[in-house]
Amino acid sequence: MQSVRTLVLATAKFGSKVQSLKASRQLRFSSTFSSTSGFRAVHSSEVKHQGPVAKPKDEEKVVLVNAIRDIDGSMITIGTSTGEQHQYPSVWLRDNCQCPKCFNTTMQSRTVDWKYFDINIKPTHVMAEENQLKLVWNDGHESDYDLNWLLERSFTENVRKEWMKQHYPMTRISWGTVDFNKILKKYDFNDILNSDATLLDWLENIATYGIALIDNTPPQEDQLRRVADRVGFIRRTQYGEEYMVKHQPGTSNLAYTSGNLQMHTDLPYYDYKPGINMLHCLVQTEGTGGENQVTDAMHVAEKLKREKPEVYKVLTETPVEWCDIGQESGYSFHSLYRTPVILNDSNGDFLRADYSQQQRDSHFSVPLDQVIPWYEAHAAFTEELYNPENTVYFKLKEREILVFDNIRLLHGRKGYEDKPSNTRHLVGSYVDWDVAYSRIRVLRKKLRGHIRSHLSSTPVQKCT
Ligand code: OGA
Ligand code: ZN
Ligand code: ZN
Repeated sequence: MQSVRTLVLATAKFGSKVQSLKASRQLRFSSTFSSTSGFRAVHSSEVKHQGPVAKPKDEEKVVLVNAIRDIDGSMITIGTSTGEQHQYPSVWLRDNCQCPKCFNTTMQSRTVDWKYFDINIKPTHVMAEENQLKLVWNDGHESDYDLNWLLERSFTENVRKEWMKQHYPMTRISWGTVDFNKILKKYDFNDILNSDATLLDWLENIATYGIALIDNTPPQEDQLRRVADRVGFIRRTQYGEEYMVKHQPGTSNLAYTSGNLQMHTDLPYYDYKPGINMLHCLVQTEGTGGENQVTDAMHVAEKLKREKPEVYKVLTETPVEWCDIGQESGYSFHSLYRTPVILNDSNGDFLRADYSQQQRDSHFSVPLDQVIPWYEAHAAFTEELYNPENTVYFKLKEREILVFDNIRLLHGRKGYEDKPSNTRHLVGSYVDWDVAYSRIRVLRKKLRGHIRSHLSSTPVQKCT
């Protein structure tokens, strides 16, 4: 998004039952603690400790065989019939007590009052039933935990990795020009609207590669809303919910001229930047120009990290000021956000790119000695962005929608000339990634019975 735009549609749419442990007589193994006699663990000779994990036969039900409290009561270890052991801090168990006082299952919300929460709380009694861990706490509270529930939340590395793989559809695969024809998929507008399987495939494709096309879109200005509604809901910005990209004489908006639009991300001056960008081509120029250009900034960032780590470091560490000041349909805005051109996640991997000459402020609030090194790094990044190995050009056809990840991809447009009989006209709208990811999980559950990423079961060759 550039500067002032026409606001087309400004309308804002805007426990388990606690069982009496005294009544539980079927405990197979237990360990108990009493403040007077100290720690007493009751073990069975059958209890298996860490070592090779015995694989259960498919039909064999995994049961809980023991539960042990450590000496100071801060850690509970459970053992299963497969020989596995899993450890849970007592504080976590109490924080996640599933009883009706602590957790509302209808709302799936924690209700334990943290104002009074004691992080040093310890269980005095620890009992293992067939598929339940039962605890009595030193304040008298009682908690039951289902074995499967516990196993799904195990702190072991394998379980945590599997959880991440299944629930965070963030397996992004970077690509360069040579890969583009392989990764660009075209979807039919009606299939997106009518088929959940197509909708899911399309969303997964954008999550993975950052780009996809939709074809056969009806030639009206309100069609992006229909796509957004299939995903969840449209993202409103200061430019409204649907904005018109066309040459408007006298405009102060770069996108609304027929000039060259340099590579950029839309709305870098928002902390919560719109995630999925959709551009519906109603009228394409019949003359030369008007091509779009896209680059996978993640691919470029990975290359820089490998080949020029010092450049990468500067780009990830120097905050840049992005801004947009103006007025739109009576709404005055002064948007500012400081973030580096490349933002890493906590593992040091690419998270987000922000890049826009149009919306980069002349204010650059960094110490003087960081200015020139940043310009050098920015120039190196720009050179890679425009490198033909990394950037692709194509001219959208009428009825097509270009859909791309605005967190990850950069886009631009070549200048063009309108004629009285042919004026280029695109409509733009956004959907947030939070909304799209949520939809992916719901659709996966509905269509596949689980929310595992298709990438984890069918490895996709990483593009070079
Ligand atoms: C924009 C934009 C692309 C185009 O409006 O932000 O990138 O093809 N437009 O006009
Ligand atoms: Zn744009
Ligand atoms: Zn509770």
